[in-house]
Amino acid sequence: MTPPHPSAYPSFPVSRPRRLRRTPPLRRLVAETRLHPADLVLPMFVKESLTEPSPLGSMPGVLQHTRDSLKAAAVEAVSAGVGGLMIFGIPAERDAVGTAASEPDGILNLALADLKAEVGDATVLMADLCLDEFTDHGHCGVLDARGAVDNDATLVRYAEMALAQAAAGADLLGTSGMMDGQVGHIRGALDGSGNIDTGIFAYAAKYASAFYGPFREAVDSALIGDRRTYQQDPANRRESAREVALDLAEGADLVMVKPAMSYLDVLSDVAASVDVPVAAYQVSGEYAMVEAAAAHGWIDRDRAVLETLTSIRRAGASIILTYWATEVATKLNAGRQI
Ligand code: PBG
Repeated sequence: MTPPHPSAYPSFPVSRPRRLRRTPPLRRLVAETRLHPADLVLPMFVKESLTEPSPLGSMPGVLQHTRDSLKAAAVEAVSAGVGGLMIFGIPAERDAVGTAASEPDGILNLALADLKAEVGDATVLMADLCLDEFTDHGHCGVLDARGAVDNDATLVRYAEMALAQAAAGADLLGTSGMMDGQVGHIRGALDGSGNIDTGIFAYAAKYASAFYGPFREAVDSALIGDRRTYQQDPANRRESAREVALDLAEGADLVMVKPAMSYLDVLSDVAASVDVPVAAYQVSGEYAMVEAAAAHGWIDRDRAVLETLTSIRRAGASIILTYWATEVATKLNAGRQI
């Protein structure tokens, strides 16, 4: 016997969610999440010894910049409407304590001053506040006699870095080193030196992630070993609530979860529990995965890029650090949404 067609039951199905998916304008009208250029922050690398910008093999489309090419790329990003720039510096000389990080003429501080003059009125200028790009051993802090990262000695260096970055014109300092007490110590140093308006963009929940792999090439990292004694274990979710609460108690102005895509549960928790802006960092390995798969023709690159960013917004980030910021902002301006 042939079963009756569904239309034999006039009221079946009771609800038809497909109605709102029928046309692009309907889908656009009911979209719960939208991307906007101003939500995107572009991380950028500037390298002291370069005479020409240098492409990164593991991050196709991303460059290590000279001071001049950094300025040009910053102008392009700001013209596309991105919300801010996060600057990383790669010095010519490294040593055990990362001296170049806190010198006014260290590459990162020079580049910040360049950008302050070039685009400082039109964007939010952010500086990575961490020692790993500047130390010869590649760790995010200074080492004690046994070779372990010395938390409190590192805080002293972070405070010196903070003052140099504030003097160079950074609006927000990205505390990415995962030392205990770093936000409070840096806040104290800033306030004590009259830099009361310099904000702290706290990498509050930062995991020891394999997805930072390509970044190590981007900053010519010297690291041997890993960062598991200071960055969080990917197995932990509740621990992030503790890290975020500590950073807020110490004076963080914004908090970040990093990486993004493998930590959307953490991001969602954080977004639901704090009253400051929440950011997520779509890190180098997340970028590289999509670019590599797309280069093989295995995924649709443009759709995948927007899907990753949309999912990070949907999980609760109001700000996203992404190496695609300029490209995506440009496309959004042209009205190309998903
Ligand atoms: C630390 C820092 C790192 C990244 C941003 N800030 C490296 C690390 O913690 O090992 C990684 C960013 C990325 O992978 O895109 N200065």
